[in-house]
Amino acid sequence: MGPNNPFHDPLRFERQVKPCSLVIFGANGDLTKRKLIPALYRLAFERRLPSGFSIIGNSRTEMSDDAYREKMRQSVIQFLEESPFDESVWRDFAAGLFYISGDLRDPNLYSRLAAKLAELDQTRLTGSNALFYLSTQPSHYAPVIEGLGAAGLQHAAPTATNPSPWRRLVVEKPFGHDLASSRELDTAVHRVFHEDAVYRIDHYLGKETVQNILAFRFGNGIFEPLWDRRYVNHVQITAAESIGVEGRGGYYEEAGALRDMIQNHLLQILATVAMEPPALFEATAVRDERAKLLRSIRILKPGEVPTHAVKGQYGPADVGGQSLPGFRQEQGVSPNSQTDTYAAVTFFIDNWRWAGVPFYVRSGKRLAKRVTDIAISFNPAPHRVFADSAPGAGPADLAPNLLILRVQPEEGISLRFLSKQPGSGMQLRPVSMDFKYGSSFGMRSPTAYETLLVDALTGDATLYSRQDMVEASWQAVHPILEVWNNTTFDFPNYASGSWGPASSDDMLALRGHTWRVP
Ligand code: BG6
Repeated sequence: MGPNNPFHDPLRFERQVKPCSLVIFGANGDLTKRKLIPALYRLAFERRLPSGFSIIGNSRTEMSDDAYREKMRQSVIQFLEESPFDESVWRDFAAGLFYISGDLRDPNLYSRLAAKLAELDQTRLTGSNALFYLSTQPSHYAPVIEGLGAAGLQHAAPTATNPSPWRRLVVEKPFGHDLASSRELDTAVHRVFHEDAVYRIDHYLGKETVQNILAFRFGNGIFEPLWDRRYVNHVQITAAESIGVEGRGGYYEEAGALRDMIQNHLLQILATVAMEPPALFEATAVRDERAKLLRSIRILKPGEVPTHAVKGQYGPADVGGQSLPGFRQEQGVSPNSQTDTYAAVTFFIDNWRWAGVPFYVRSGKRLAKRVTDIAISFNPAPHRVFADSAPGAGPADLAPNLLILRVQPEEGISLRFLSKQPGSGMQLRPVSMDFKYGSSFGMRSPTAYETLLVDALTGDATLYSRQDMVEASWQAVHPILEVWNNTTFDFPNYASGSWGPASSDDMLALRGHTWRVP
């Protein structure tokens, strides 16, 4: 099999999923329909799942196995990215798809679940291995964990064919609403599950391009020597979405952009960009370095918040002839909402490598386009040799070297540098050297959920978050949330389809910087 074959993956046999069951709580929810089941189907399509692999979905709605299968079939057809839907793969996959309705607070649900798991061990040879996936509203996490514990489902007894069956728990974000509630959740988790069995998912860590930051930094010799305060002027991390809250107004009204994106996804990206090299590529070593970095983020004093953090909310607008509602007009949102649909923060990392280098992080809904990238801006050359020979030199001549790590939608890396413009004289112009994932590898990248599901099913927690990281991230955003909570903002302060509030530009201007337009 050549590298252009979509099934070519030299490690796929080492990372073979052993027979097991996956139990999804919240099986009728958005995440399950949009991400989990399409990712599992795709894994089945690529023959990454063992025969007998079984899924038990749970939610309150009464439904037969067949009705659930049909619902999921529609979701896969709707949300499957790129690949075609294959009826025969689906038929095999759906034969392992089951549904149990029931209230998460009812102990009876867990005994029925135990019976179903035991039945699947017999009928589909799942070997007593099971992964429990929490994809419900966060308020249900603790009751589910308690229910699993009361029914003894966190352990499985060795069998003749499987001497060490495993039970694991995947917890979806948000891990709490703030530091205190994240600790409460952690206590609830640890009352039942051992830390080794807990997988806190942050799907940004599963994105190919985020993993590639590690390859880029630690697999090459030439970039790392430049990766510090002496050469890097500042870093910009952008996660812009063009969509609004899309029917999630109720959840989002409580969360806001700082909690929804920055506290987890973007701080994990920041940690990946800024962490020290781990000695080994192995779960504990990698996670220790990420955690150490997150703990080095400077905690803002309340008085510093207004100059280091910007809160925004989109208003209604006409974009391309289409009139878009403002956040306050979305369903489930208060007409006086103070929720942030945009947040930008200037972070500093108090360690030897990064002292004094601003890391600007921003995220928002209904921005000009969907793009996630990281731009590392290097210091300018110390002396402008060409200044006099280029009298007409414009600001472009001053453009600093920029390294852009593109996470989505166009995955790749580009390096911007100055080059001589053809012709007489020394006129310089920025040009760029580009690497594009698609054209270099000519194969599809797995989605983050495909990667992370295989990892959890094979017991690899390298790309999963850990409680100390979760707490360090909450600590980093805590003062901002506190100050925002006690301030009334004049919202809306940016129009749908724009790049966010003007105050965000002002924040960068304080240090002589500007947001780049990605
Ligand atoms: C989720 C957030 O975690 O990430 C959403 O809750 C956001 O609000 C989503 O839209 C973005 O993920 P992606 O993979 O589409 O960039």
